[in-house]
Amino acid sequence: MELRAIAACILARLTDHGGALGDQFEPHRQLREFGLLQEICYGVCRHHQSLAFLLEQLLERPLRKRDSDLKYLLLSAIYQLRELSVPEYAVIDETVKAAGELRKSWAKPMVNAVLRNFQRGRADFESRILQQPESVQLNHPVWLTDAIRADWPQQWRSILEHNNRRPPMCLRVNRLRGSRDETMRLLQQAGLECAAGGLAPSSVYLNKPRPVREIPGFAEGLLSVQDEASQLAPELLAPAPGDRLLDACAAPGGKTCHMLESMAELGSCLALDRDERRSDKIRENLDRLGLDAELAVADVRDLPAWWDDRAFDRILLDAPCSASGVIRRHPDIKLLSRPEDANSHSKAQFSLLYALWNCLKPGGRLLYTTCSILRQENEQVISRFLAAAEDAKTVRITADWGIECGHGIQLPPGGADGPDGFYYCLLEKA
Ligand SMILES: C[S@@+](CC[C@H](N)C(=O)[O-])C[C@H]1O[C@@H](n2cnc3c(N)ncnc32)[C@H](O)[C@@H]1O
Repeated sequence: MELRAIAACILARLTDHGGALGDQFEPHRQLREFGLLQEICYGVCRHHQSLAFLLEQLLERPLRKRDSDLKYLLLSAIYQLRELSVPEYAVIDETVKAAGELRKSWAKPMVNAVLRNFQRGRADFESRILQQPESVQLNHPVWLTDAIRADWPQQWRSILEHNNRRPPMCLRVNRLRGSRDETMRLLQQAGLECAAGGLAPSSVYLNKPRPVREIPGFAEGLLSVQDEASQLAPELLAPAPGDRLLDACAAPGGKTCHMLESMAELGSCLALDRDERRSDKIRENLDRLGLDAELAVADVRDLPAWWDDRAFDRILLDAPCSASGVIRRHPDIKLLSRPEDANSHSKAQFSLLYALWNCLKPGGRLLYTTCSILRQENEQVISRFLAAAEDAKTVRITADWGIECGHGIQLPPGGADGPDGFYYCLLEKA
């Protein structure tokens, strides 16, 4: 099947059946134009609301639900015409052919007419976008635009704009194996331009994203791929030598490995996650980096299933969330997330925190973090928790980054050379 038909099928399947865009590409890695396939799929998600508006203007009547593959074929073509340097005649010819590959030859004249119509009237169609609400102009679902605007009245526009940019590639230096300067020299000697991150002492930004196999030292465990915002946990949780550490939602192990790289003399580290397949990745990462931790596969809330009653000095809870802070990396969130999701995440986050509190030593600390920018999943969870747990208090995070909230601190997503959106709150048990 030709690449444009494959892109249409991937996007239609994703919206019809759910999942994650990043997981859909494996069967297509051998394609000659694999890069273009990814570019089209990510691009359609990133620009979805304005593309959908344009298509609505161009169609005489809406497509039927069972023709969602045709819808995504057309959205992909409009994306290519607007954003890519592929010759326009090639985009139109190949898209018409792809309609045949989707076994919808009846639609070929319609596909051709829609795209030629867009080509001819493009300036006028584009100008109509400027008359649309911000959710269309800034390519976010209405509910999410409203939620971000309500939570961040000063920053909402720049947050939405940053969400639409391509994310930088950030690396984490394994400082047990070499300093950041030494590792940067290794990258530079191999011709990779890079710069040290300003927030986390282990972070290095590459000027241009690359496949990990092309990054010297990756296979040998000198570095990993991890956004700078998520590299702030070890400094905030600050375990001491000999401490018993629990990483409670650990898979695929980015933060577990970083904690171990940052504190070689930990007493013990247990990495817990309920997803067995994702937990295999923790082991893979530990092995590549030459680290070790105890692993357990269980639901955090089912304490008898995984806990031996020995309390922990430090707990990291990187809670499952809407991922609204990492939309630039996962723009499919804009197609797949629903307004009710933040509510159900917030309930689950509270229950995880509440269960874990039993496992923390008096005087011990728990770092709560999410890659969400919605207050409902962050400081509101903490407020409810503080009201329910009398022996809990927050420890103020004094940092030269982020926006201080009622409880905790929020990093907003930071553009082409900045961090993802992350929330941190440090709690201490009396
Ligand atoms: C944000 S991800 C963790 C990312 C990880 N900390 C890292 O840095 O690589 C959240 C994880 O929570 C796990 N999870 C969700 N609910 C859970 C539960 N009730 N018990 C245990 N793990 C859970 C998911 O399987 C997922 O791997």
